[in-house]
Amino acid sequence: MSITSFPGGESLSRLASPQTKVTMPALSEMKRQGKPISALTAYDYSSARLVDEAGIDLLLVGDSLAMVVLGHENTLSVTMEEMLHHTRAVRRAVRRALVVADMPFGSYHASIAEGLNNAIRFVKEAGAEAVKIEGPRIELARALVDAEIPVVGHLGLTPQSLHRMGGYRVQARTAVAAQQLKTDALALAHAGAGAIVLEGVPREVAEEITAELPIPTIGIGAGPGCDGQILVFHDMVNLTFAPPAKFVRRYCNAGALIRSAIENYREDVERRAFPSDEESYHLPEAARRALGSQLAPEAELNAGDAVVNQDALKGWAR
Ligand code: KIV
Repeated sequence: MSITSFPGGESLSRLASPQTKVTMPALSEMKRQGKPISALTAYDYSSARLVDEAGIDLLLVGDSLAMVVLGHENTLSVTMEEMLHHTRAVRRAVRRALVVADMPFGSYHASIAEGLNNAIRFVKEAGAEAVKIEGPRIELARALVDAEIPVVGHLGLTPQSLHRMGGYRVQARTAVAAQQLKTDALALAHAGAGAIVLEGVPREVAEEITAELPIPTIGIGAGPGCDGQILVFHDMVNLTFAPPAKFVRRYCNAGALIRSAIENYREDVERRAFPSDEESYHLPEAARRALGSQLAPEAELNAGDAVVNQDALKGWAR
């Protein structure tokens, strides 16, 4: 495929206004300029398009998909194949944001070589532009960077350490633990990581680490002092089915909106109010006459009824 041809469904407006691609070095430049970095998770084509077109800088295909998309109790069971499948869908949607794939539990814990091979799969088979790893895995971070794979670290409350932590607990709440977190963050940065997610840590600790680190911090439950912020898409739009954590801000109630749309649809079907005549195809007049059909005599017969969706033909007019 040439770089000027895109698969069907590409919007003309997207093609007409090329945007500067966000890269890992661009995130560091944003930190240098004091420009906040916006980040969100997404797990499929449609949500990734919305996130990208809204101008979010970093899009994480998080292993949180295990919970919010697949309905698991925690993130531990999601597999490499599932993460690859969702990363591919996101990749197809995104033009501008940096696409980061979360390495799932077990895909990098047994050995550096296995972690490296799995990270290469995200880049080669799914189009990821960086991978995220949880914990201070300095040697792995160095090996990934040596293999040309940009790395996002993830420190503090690392959900893959659920059992070791004994629950989802705020981390680095003592001076000693805060110092250790800073040491780990600096070691990851020196190993070549391009950014670090800080999750579930006191804002004072995140602020100090952010000030000392040469690379951007992206906070979730880490207060306003980080270089950027990330939320889980489903939390932000209220598509989850549990009370949110303290750090979540709901920007809309998509759950309520979608639920009411579905209820309206069901009611329309049940009272035969959907579909209407306008939402139906009609026979061409000659065929109707030949059939002696009594169907829709009042309908405006339209040659366009030979095509399922006229608008879709007009360059997927969006
Ligand atoms: O998987 C995920 O969604 C994450 C974010 C919470 C940072 O790791």
